[in-house]
Amino acid sequence: MGKNIILKIFEKKLLSGSLQPGNEISLKVNQTLTQDSTGTMVYLQLEAMGIKDIQTDLSVAYVDHNTLQTGFENADDHAFIKSVAAKYGIIYSKPGNGICHQLHLERFAKPGDVLIGSDSHTPTCGGLGMLSIGAGGLDVAVAMAKGYYFLKVPKILNIELKGKLKPWVSAKDVILYILKELTVKGGVGYMIEYSGEGLRELSVTDRATIANMGAELGATTSIFPSDEITRDFLIRQGREKDFIHLTADDDAEYDKKIVVNLEDIFPMAAMPHSPDHVAKVKDIQGIKVDQVAIGSCTNASYTDLMKVAKILKGRKVHEDVSLVISPGSSSILKMLSDHGALGALIDAGARILEAACGPCIGMGQAPKSSAVSLRTFNRNFQGRCGTENAHVYLISPETAAVSAITGYLTDPSSFGDVPLVEIPEKYHVSDHYFVYPKEDRTNTEIIMGPNIKPFPVNQPLGPVLRGKMLLKTGDHVTTDDIMPSHASLLPYRSNIPELSKHCFGTLVKDFHAIARKYNGGFVVGGENYGQGSSREHAALVPLYLGVKAVIAKSFARIHKANLINSGIIPLTFIDKEDYAYFDALDELEIRDIIGALDAGSEISLFNKTKGIAVRLQFEGSRRDADILKAGGYLNYAKQSNIS
Ligand code: F3S
Repeated sequence: MGKNIILKIFEKKLLSGSLQPGNEISLKVNQTLTQDSTGTMVYLQLEAMGIKDIQTDLSVAYVDHNTLQTGFENADDHAFIKSVAAKYGIIYSKPGNGICHQLHLERFAKPGDVLIGSDSHTPTCGGLGMLSIGAGGLDVAVAMAKGYYFLKVPKILNIELKGKLKPWVSAKDVILYILKELTVKGGVGYMIEYSGEGLRELSVTDRATIANMGAELGATTSIFPSDEITRDFLIRQGREKDFIHLTADDDAEYDKKIVVNLEDIFPMAAMPHSPDHVAKVKDIQGIKVDQVAIGSCTNASYTDLMKVAKILKGRKVHEDVSLVISPGSSSILKMLSDHGALGALIDAGARILEAACGPCIGMGQAPKSSAVSLRTFNRNFQGRCGTENAHVYLISPETAAVSAITGYLTDPSSFGDVPLVEIPEKYHVSDHYFVYPKEDRTNTEIIMGPNIKPFPVNQPLGPVLRGKMLLKTGDHVTTDDIMPSHASLLPYRSNIPELSKHCFGTLVKDFHAIARKYNGGFVVGGENYGQGSSREHAALVPLYLGVKAVIAKSFARIHKANLINSGIIPLTFIDKEDYAYFDALDELEIRDIIGALDAGSEISLFNKTKGIAVRLQFEGSRRDADILKAGGYLNYAKQSNIS
């Protein structure tokens, strides 16, 4: 049987487990990346592991999210990350250098290797044939400290690209078309592998755009072959030595296969408020536009921005439109300047922003109320742009540039000749924004400003689990309910004690005080407990407040994994009717929890206040049980080695 690319990488990097679908395996991790918003927590976790050196070939700490320094907090975070990087031998990328995924693609990604990153768009480097997976902060800390990453063997979806793109249609339209076909749930449980003659149409940065938004399909990652186009990109980046040829065998097998004919694709737009709410631009054009934002890890490559500059050259941004452009990297900004494109953009009336995430993460450029904002980004959930009632459309750089001129959402195909952009002979490569680790790292000191507090390390599980029921929630409690994420709390991502004052703040006023008074205890929840964003803080903050176990009718998958990683035991009611027998401040007890906790085991909980025993189930693996017994993934990883 022929092998697909993902299987080839799995076989090469496998440390433990067998490659049957659904089995848990561990892979050797070659590289990690962090961005600053998640990175502070990752490095607090790394620090808590007490290691001397990282075990990856290369790790990079990027600062690209919270680069607006309106108070001391963000700058303190940057200083902390820089000092940890210096101590452990991690490359530090200064603010202004660019967006983590764009920079990683340019400078470090290697075909055939494994990258784990604490950002959901880490799969961007799949555009270069690297197996690149977005993971929780703890996973990334452990990947650095131990060099491994655990995952379940996924199903593999092959998307075969056929034919040629029409003029004015580009990579962003391809992934929006696929999102329309498959929806935001279409990739769940899959890794996606691209193949087909249509690949010849796509440069590495085009492929990266498509791999980037595989995250919106819900896929674990997306990957492209490493072929002559990949080699060419690496040569122009000055690192041909990193090239390996990596393609699927002709008779490779997949769990699912779909064919996309590139000729069927038109300029597309994802309408408010979901990336899969997609229409052809020609069917919805004419909407009056207030803001156009070009950039982000999806569409801020050199060729993307050169196309925009060529469209804008000699023209003028419409008087009612604010056009903002954030380049993907400082090198791209330099090349735009060298090739006269920066002048064309400024002449047309564009606002040039720092090379950073910027408006994509809501760092400035919130549009006016009820605005229509066209963005080349990857997400358009309500309120993400900073204006709750704004209408955000996701579009290609071509559609963005043309619409910025006309002042209306406009199909670019009606705009005349397609701008032709040559890939430069040599990309600009600069190390000036990178700080490389020193040879001698013996006297490095961790700098922790007043806003940075140590990571709450848990104790190994004791023989009896006992405590008050601190809170009973209804169904569908979100991670936002557990740990609110509004903008005023963003600077405190590295300050769990401060965040803990807001825990369950949308449900009760004083959870913090109750938890403190009773020295922690239990939480009881309804169906789908912990749905929504994968935010790790929704587990770490309750852990800090002493929550020992959450008993629910059912759990959202990622939150359950985060609870286990932090050391909080997730248990489900065997009989959901038993949920009714619990009231606030009931005294609960699980005897011999150590003996009882095992893969899928049944556990008896005694409600001492009501005098009844309730049957619960632990819906986890043997390894999950061992992590909980150790008091969380950090403690577990400290004790275990895979080689
Ligand atoms: Fe940054 Fe937005 Fe990408 S926040 S990493 S540019 S999704």
